[in-house]
Order: sequence, then structure tokens, then C-alpha cells
Amino acid sequence: MLSGRRVVLGVSGGVAAYKSAYLARRLLEAGAEVRVVMTPAAQRFIGAQTFASLTGSHPLTDLFEDPSVSPHTELARWAELVIVAPATAATIARLAHGIADNALAATLLATRAPVVLAPAMHTEMWEHPATRRNISLIEADGHRIIGPFSGELAGGDVGIGRVAEPEEIVEFAKTVLHRPLEGLTVLVTAGGTREALDPVRYLGNRSSGKMGHAIAAAAAQRGAHVELVTTSSLPAPPGANVHRVESAQEMLEAVEKIHPDIAVFAAAVADFRPAQAAQDKLSRSDGPPTLVLEPTPDILASVVARGDDIFVVGFAAETGGVERAIEKAKRKGVDLMVYNDVTAPGSGFGTDTNQVTLIEPDGTVDRWPQLSKAEVASRLMEIVANRLGR
Ligand code: CTP
Repeated sequence: MLSGRRVVLGVSGGVAAYKSAYLARRLLEAGAEVRVVMTPAAQRFIGAQTFASLTGSHPLTDLFEDPSVSPHTELARWAELVIVAPATAATIARLAHGIADNALAATLLATRAPVVLAPAMHTEMWEHPATRRNISLIEADGHRIIGPFSGELAGGDVGIGRVAEPEEIVEFAKTVLHRPLEGLTVLVTAGGTREALDPVRYLGNRSSGKMGHAIAAAAAQRGAHVELVTTSSLPAPPGANVHRVESAQEMLEAVEKIHPDIAVFAAAVADFRPAQAAQDKLSRSDGPPTLVLEPTPDILASVVARGDDIFVVGFAAETGGVERAIEKAKRKGVDLMVYNDVTAPGSGFGTDTNQVTLIEPDGTVDRWPQLSKAEVASRLMEIVANRLGR
């Protein structure tokens, strides 16, 4: 996976910088070409010559002393992957806010390659609200974080903040470069639909959209072109093209314009909507209204009915056993059905975890343990890629 890949190793100033020499070594052993860029503080902890001897080329340490006119953009364009290890609080803050005041920070801003950061700092600094904010910002930009882990820190302290080990970073880098869905379009529907009763009120459900957004993120991380049709106000997953909708009808209209290779229907779509939404806000003084409902379009069915060669994944959020979901998988003509019992603890609407069971069209079931929604999404996308022979 790393063989022949061009990796830029960014080193910022912490005692863990000594481990970056080992990391450079491991990357080279895995077959990568490695170039190094260092911050001024990093050079207080480890010499540029160490990396020069290991990698065969001099690290970039200064934007103005280098013979190249624009060394940071040159390095940024050369990179297929950038790994920052250790990533100090200051380097993370620079990246979060786009401050390009040293060679590493400028390279990070100039590159379009995926960026992996291995933070290392004291527990207090890691837990500071400013660092929390900065980590959220860089994650929202699509950068990937490994660690930090608990262990011994500088000065004999013990706590969370230890940088990931070189071997762990190498393994993580391999997963970042693993893009089995490259060249494919993935459609994801997410969130609960809102069916208008009047200009103010709607019939809705408890779906948060977290599962669907996690799937969109997992597909984009694997190189897919992602079209996410969502009712949720959650932030757009990095790399996904987002269509914000409210009702089943709007969701259908957005889906009709998309021509995917893979379609994942994670949305909780209302089965019925008010036949007539009131023009004006319903008033208490008019007494309790009688609601006349009509069916909504079945969005999943409309995509299956296209007859195109689309790999279709359905979701079945149920409140009972798996039998109904098995029957649904067969009836709906999906390639995979993801069932979850929304009443089970740690599963279903609004939670960050999910316990799902994968159902094959022939009714075979595979019960997964309780996992984070991000992990469920990753595993699901790996399985879909696998089924498509990727
Ligand atoms: N679905 C859809 N459009 C609808 C209803 C459902 O795209 N109008 C999709 C959901 O996103 C999900 C799958 O179909 O992937 C199953 O949804 P579910 O509501 O569980 O099934 P229904 O077809 O509504 O069947 P039932 O009411 O019997 O549960």
C-alpha cells in the first residue's frame, strides 16, 4: 500500500520528535519515498541531518533559505500523503486557522493530499477547550487524527497525550491511502423527513442523520464521489456534495437527479404525509384538526425500479426482532439490508453508537457488536467495496 508512494513527514516541536526518525525509517521500509519538513521548534529536539541521512534528502526547514522559489508548494504538490508526527498544539492550531507562518504550516495549507496528524502534548493542553475546538475544525476539514494515547509524557508526567507509535502511524497511513471506491458515485440518504402540516408544524421522526452522515464520510474517505441527500443539520462530511431537503418528495426529487453506482438509504422516510398542508398556521381556536394522510413516494423502490446496475443498501430501523427486516430485505430487492433495533440501548436514533445486523438478500444474517456509527460506516463501506470486487 505504501510502496512507491510519496509521503511528506512533517515534524513539529515536541520531545516525541525523536520518534519521527523511527517513523521515517518505517515508512522507507514499507517502500515509501519520504521527504521531511520541520518547524523551527522541531529542530530544537532533533537535527535535520538525522532525517537527511535517513531519507537521502535534506528536510525543508525554512521558506526563505531554500534554493527553490516556492519550496512549500513544491513539496505540497509532490505529496500523496502528509503525516505530521508529532503534531503539537501549536501546529494543530495553525492548521485549524490557516496560519502558514513556517515551512510545515505552509506545506499543510498548500497540499491537497490527505493529511494525517499524530498529536503529542501534555494532557492539560490536549484537553484545553481551544485544542478541542481546533481538533473539531481540522476533522471537519477532512484531516485524519491518530491518537494521542495514554502513557508517559515529557517530564515524567503520565496521562493522555502520548504520540502514536511509528508502527501504528504506518498502519493508519495505509488505511488512509486505501481508496477502493475511487471512480464510483455513492448516493446516501440521511435523516428523518419532515412532512408539513402547516407552515410551522410537521410530522417527523427521531432520526438524527448521524448514521447516514457517517456513511457519507466513510465513502468519501475511500475515494468515492459522494452525493448526500439529507434532512439533517449536521455538518457536511468532508468531501461530500450535500443536498439539504425536508420532505420525502424533496428527497425523491434530489435523488432522481443522481446516478450512483452505490446507493445507501439510511434516511428514515415518513410513510405517510398530510394529504393537504394548511396554507396558514392552524389555530387552536379552530379546534383539533382531522388529519387526512396519503402515502409518500418510496425513494428506495424508485431507485431499484430504474433497473440500473446499482448496488443498493437499505436500512430497517425496527422495534422488534430481525424477522421483519429479513422479510423486508427480500421484498425491497436490496443487495444488503442493515437492521437495527432502535429500542435497544446504545442503538438507533441520536446515539453515537449502533448495534446492527447485516442481512443478505437470501436471508443470511450477520450480527455485529455495538460499534461507533463511524466504525459501522467504515465496515459497511469495506464490505460494499469488496462485493464490487474492489
Ligand atoms: N425508504 C425510502 N422511501 C420511503 C420509505 C423507506 O427510501 N418512502 C427506505 C429507507 O430509507 C430504508 C428502507 O427503505 O432504507 C426501509 O425503510 P422502512 O421505513 O423500514 O420500510 P418501509 O418500506 O417503510 O416498510 P414498513 O413500513 O413496513 O416498515
